Amino acid sequence: MNTMSTPFRALRLIALLLYILSFAPHHHHSISTTTAAIAAHDTMFAGQSLTINQTLVSRNGKFELGFFTPGNSKKYYIGIWFKQVAAIQKKKTVVWVANRNNPIATDDSFSSEFKLLENGGLVLLILVSSSNIPVWSTNSTTSRAMNDSSVEVVLGDDANLVISSSSNRRRSVIWQSFDHPTNAFLPGLKLGYNNVTKKGSKLTSWRNSEDPSDGIYSFEWWADRSFNIIWNNSYKFYTSGVWNGRFFGSVPEMNVGHGLMSSFEFTSKEDGSYEFTYFLSNKSLPLNTFLDTSGQMKSIVWSTEARDWTIIWSKPLRRCQVYGVCGAFAVCSENNICQCLSGFTQRYPKDWGFLDYSGGCVRKTSLQCSNGDSFTKMSNIRLPDQISTSANALVVDIAKKCELACLQNCSCKAYAYATNSSSSSTSSSSSSSAVVFGVCYGMQIY
Ligand SMILES: *[C@@H]1O[C@H](CO)[C@@H](O)[C@H](O)[C@H]1NC(C)=O
Ligand SMILES: *[C@@H]1O[C@H](CO)[C@@H](O)[C@H](O)[C@H]1NC(C)=O
Ligand SMILES: *[C@@H]1O[C@H](CO)[C@@H](O)[C@H](O)[C@H]1NC(C)=O
Ligand SMILES: *[C@@H]1O[C@H](CO)[C@@H](O)[C@H](O)[C@H]1NC(C)=O
Ligand SMILES: *[C@@H]1O[C@H](CO)[C@@H](O)[C@H](O)[C@H]1NC(C)=O
Ligand SMILES: *[C@@H]1O[C@H](CO)[C@@H](O)[C@H](O)[C@H]1NC(C)=O
Ligand SMILES: *[C@@H]1O[C@H](CO)[C@@H](O)[C@H](O)[C@H]1NC(C)=O
Ligand SMILES: *[C@@H]1O[C@H](CO)[C@@H](O)[C@H](O)[C@H]1NC(C)=O
Repeated sequence: MNTMSTPFRALRLIALLLYILSFAPHHHHSISTTTAAIAAHDTMFAGQSLTINQTLVSRNGKFELGFFTPGNSKKYYIGIWFKQVAAIQKKKTVVWVANRNNPIATDDSFSSEFKLLENGGLVLLILVSSSNIPVWSTNSTTSRAMNDSSVEVVLGDDANLVISSSSNRRRSVIWQSFDHPTNAFLPGLKLGYNNVTKKGSKLTSWRNSEDPSDGIYSFEWWADRSFNIIWNNSYKFYTSGVWNGRFFGSVPEMNVGHGLMSSFEFTSKEDGSYEFTYFLSNKSLPLNTFLDTSGQMKSIVWSTEARDWTIIWSKPLRRCQVYGVCGAFAVCSENNICQCLSGFTQRYPKDWGFLDYSGGCVRKTSLQCSNGDSFTKMSNIRLPDQISTSANALVVDIAKKCELACLQNCSCKAYAYATNSSSSSTSSSSSSSAVVFGVCYGMQIY
């Protein structure tokens, strides 16, 4: 890989020349102009801004940055999406969101600006009683004077939004969106663990398909060289296994042909820090790997024939393997996704419409508690390990004891009972039961 053949080197040189020739006029023009707004380009210079219908487009035409509203939402966000795909689908596949937790209301959208300041900061401003209020900011600054005309921001061919400034003809990066990913692990983006700061990379799912704010699932990189999917910052239900030099232990498919992804690159440092990334074999192919609102990490690739995205990889493989996907008091099945337990109803039916089931179900009528309540039996239910091994688990000889334990305490909501059908044991077949207090998550029908 390090030895570049001569013809290829020549080609690189030609490409470099073309680049300089075609972009020199653009540069001159921008330096001499003082207008605040700009047309579609990949670059914004100090003092320039985007307003509602203006965008930046990466030089290869693959990505576009600007204001967007997800689905039928009335809220505005600054994001980056696949440009050609959006033109075909009439729908944006967003790979990065700036103000995910600070949306702009429709009324404020007309006066809002996404502006590159002379101090190296990139801010999203709204106009409130004739003063500009920042809604979101990169909080970045140049190392030089506060009024630095060399500051610029470029939307790269890989979707990385980079703010830089130059001194002594050398450009240095001040801030880049690849250091602040939202839910997407794009090709070329580096994730990993810093063993000095003890911080690992983290992606967070969207709340639902119309709300990019922080959702309940996160994708985290740990010190042991694994990536993990976590529910509500507390329960790890998926782990990749540790990096063994060629692949992550539970992701052996990385070791065999992976046509669309040309290489996986794991770089480790002496201090125990590491970074992981992957590249595309065909750079123009739209491909994204992201943490879906379903709690699954998915790789999708654009199919020109189908004119739609195709899922080429997902972890966990099955939706019901995702913890809490159906919220409380609901069961997951692959055919029918989420269903409320009998006697329960959807807590937020509107969210279910956006494929966000995490609100779960609530009882239709409240319990009387020890006054005529009875249990409904459900078979073939698998409980998450967390419940089966919790402190509330009892070892009993008959199911009735489990029921009694639950009835005796008003905060008990359900119990689960499993017989150990180990055929060889003739004397005392042991049984276990889990008594569930509070809410009950992560049940699956099998
Ligand atoms: C933005 O574009 C939309 C659709 O083309 C148009 O209806 C709207 O008036 C434009 N808004 C502004 C502020 O130019
Ligand atoms: C910028 O700083 C503000 C105030 O400290 C903080 O709330 C905000 O999250 C920061 N923005 C980013 C993108 O980190
Ligand atoms: C920075 O300098 C330019 C030109 O010298 C001037 O127009 C602009 O107002 C200055 N900006 C700030 C924030 O001082
Ligand atoms: C997630 O955790 C927070 C605090 O740790 C808790 O208040 C919240 O109820 C949890 N969410 C769910 C859906 O259980
Ligand atoms: C990470 O840092 C700790 C000290 O903070 C060190 O003990 C440990 O060996 C480092 N990990 C690796 C894998 O080098
Ligand atoms: C690369 O991907 C683009 C976009 O899908 C496609 O048009 C082109 O034919 C591909 N090139 C090769 C060499 O496969
Ligand atoms: C019922 O169970 C809850 C949760 O385990 C416990 O805190 C409480 O003390 C119990 N109440 C009684 C009356 O046993
Ligand atoms: C079932 O029996 C096996 C072997 O006797 C034991 O290892 C396991 O823990 C038992 N499971 C339960 C749920 O009691």
